[in-house]
Amino acid sequence: MKQVRILDKDFELFIDADTIQASIKGIAADINRDLEGEKPIFIAILNGSFMFAGDLMKHVTIPCEITFVRIASYRGMKSTEDVKEILGLREDIKDRTVVILEDIVDTGFTLEMLLNQFKEYEPKKIKVATLLFKPKALKRDVKPDYVALDIPNDFIVGYGLDYDGYGRNLEDIYKIKQ
Ligand code: IMP
Ligand code: MG
Repeated sequence: MKQVRILDKDFELFIDADTIQASIKGIAADINRDLEGEKPIFIAILNGSFMFAGDLMKHVTIPCEITFVRIASYRGMKSTEDVKEILGLREDIKDRTVVILEDIVDTGFTLEMLLNQFKEYEPKKIKVATLLFKPKALKRDVKPDYVALDIPNDFIVGYGLDYDGYGRNLEDIYKIKQ
């Protein structure tokens, strides 16, 4: 079994690169079918979604644009008071079909915040595509439209996802060893 050590923790292979690529091809086909004629703008959320966005877009065959944003967090007194803001959106998304590209939906707090903020720009509609979804961790009333892979509540790294900044470059996904 493939293993990696990242900083102080050991991780074991969880989802191999071929499985990731096959799942991504599957949702690309769904997007091509559902959004044909919509000329969507894909908005990838950095840093985590960079590999997912790159590989997904190779299989999106409908006319579309892609852009990249990041989320800035400002610490409040309590974690529930943290203010998060979208940085770097230069395109006008009013009346556009938007597809948010996320690396993972865990509790759903980030996705809820993103949806609320993007809605203020009055897009025609917003779809959400995520590489990974932890359905059992969900705490908010949000649901991604396109999920490449459902996973259990383990902490994972690789393929864009990090542990303290490291591990994003791995082509497979690893889960923490118990
Ligand atoms: P949320 O809990 O849905 O708001 O997820 C917020 C963010 O936590 C995600 O965009 C990831 O950056 C990070 N995250 C959640 N679960 C994991 C994990 O298992 N590994 C690495 N990062 C994670
Ligand atoms: Mg992220």
